[in-house]
Amino acid sequence: MWSDNQLTRKLKIQYPIIQAGMAGSTTPQLVAAVSESGGLGSIGAGYYTAQQLLEDITQVRQLTKKPFAVNIFVPSQQSTTNNQIEHMNAWLKPYRRALKLEEPVININERQTFERAIDIIIDQQIKVCSFTFGIPNTDTIKRLKNAGITVIGTATSVDEAIANERAGIDIIVAQGSEAGGHRGSFLKLGPKEHEAMIGTMSLVPQIVDAVTVPVIAAGGIMDGRGVLASLVLGASGVQMGTAFLTSSDSKASPLLRESIINSKETDTVVTKTFSGKYARGINNQFIEDMQQYPDIIPEYPIQNQLTNLIRKEAAKRGNKELTHMWSGQSPRLATTLNASALMSKIVNQIDTLLSGV
Ligand SMILES: Cc1cc2nc3c(=O)[nH]c(=O)nc-3n(C[C@H](O)[C@H](O)[C@H](O)COP(=O)(O)O)c2cc1C
Repeated sequence: MWSDNQLTRKLKIQYPIIQAGMAGSTTPQLVAAVSESGGLGSIGAGYYTAQQLLEDITQVRQLTKKPFAVNIFVPSQQSTTNNQIEHMNAWLKPYRRALKLEEPVININERQTFERAIDIIIDQQIKVCSFTFGIPNTDTIKRLKNAGITVIGTATSVDEAIANERAGIDIIVAQGSEAGGHRGSFLKLGPKEHEAMIGTMSLVPQIVDAVTVPVIAAGGIMDGRGVLASLVLGASGVQMGTAFLTSSDSKASPLLRESIINSKETDTVVTKTFSGKYARGINNQFIEDMQQYPDIIPEYPIQNQLTNLIRKEAAKRGNKELTHMWSGQSPRLATTLNASALMSKIVNQIDTLLSGV
């Protein structure tokens, strides 16, 4: 049986299909629907306060008894100067003026939010905790594992995968460059970081060969063909973001959902302009304008906060030119099916593909 492997046994799920924890875009309904359908739903808690995380956990538990994950961001050191922030604020002034917005107050409390989320995940006896943007410290990993929680990390290169395994991470998501949303990169990927974009087909087997823990393929996977291909490459499962983002259960705005459905594979770019970290989304005016920006873009989470209100207000007004439109490189394969119909479709497609072998 294709779905019975070390990953599904470890996570106690029926199918090796994980819905990516997409910060800002998951709903308890989406998470519960995927888990109820035999996959693993994930709460995208990267931007959540403790209160919001607790509320989502409670709501998911009202909808399913099955395991689900919580996904959070590992805080990073950043070295942005006040000068860089001032320059960016000056550059963003015309956008703020057009949308009638004030300059935001920067408030970096990533570390505190992260520690609080870890406490909640342990207190609430969540079964699976997944991370992006780095590896938590040894103490945090120990606390989670001692509490019986399975820990998943993200890697965009073989070195990042090895670092995850060495740190004691149980399962590694191999995130190829096709992936929508933020890249989980945390090590320097070479002199031209932006060009070291390893696709899923290359990354997965190279990571599988380099580590002993189960590997989950991510990036551009939208249907049964992608799942089966990933298993053939040696992955034990897949993590899908964009495919669940356009499902009717996600928090995506109708604007974003329609834009993805109507996009081509050539429409997305990888950009640092919205948040200070590389992320893949549909190209638009803001990204194009920022090509002219003469200074260094502040690092995450500063740039994220500097552009936050602009993006929110633009989205509210239905303006897709000034907000982030995250999507992976396979938008032509996106559907508007609800999450449980999507899960059934994928599983049926795999069964059909295998029956012809
Ligand atoms: C809208 C969106 C938000 C995302 N947010 C997160 C996140 O909060 N945490 C995370 O680990 N990955 C996040 N990702 C990346 C996914 O984990 C995954 O790598 C990616 O979606 C796979 O590529 P695909 O979109 O082509 O399926 C996000 C992806 C999207 C599309």
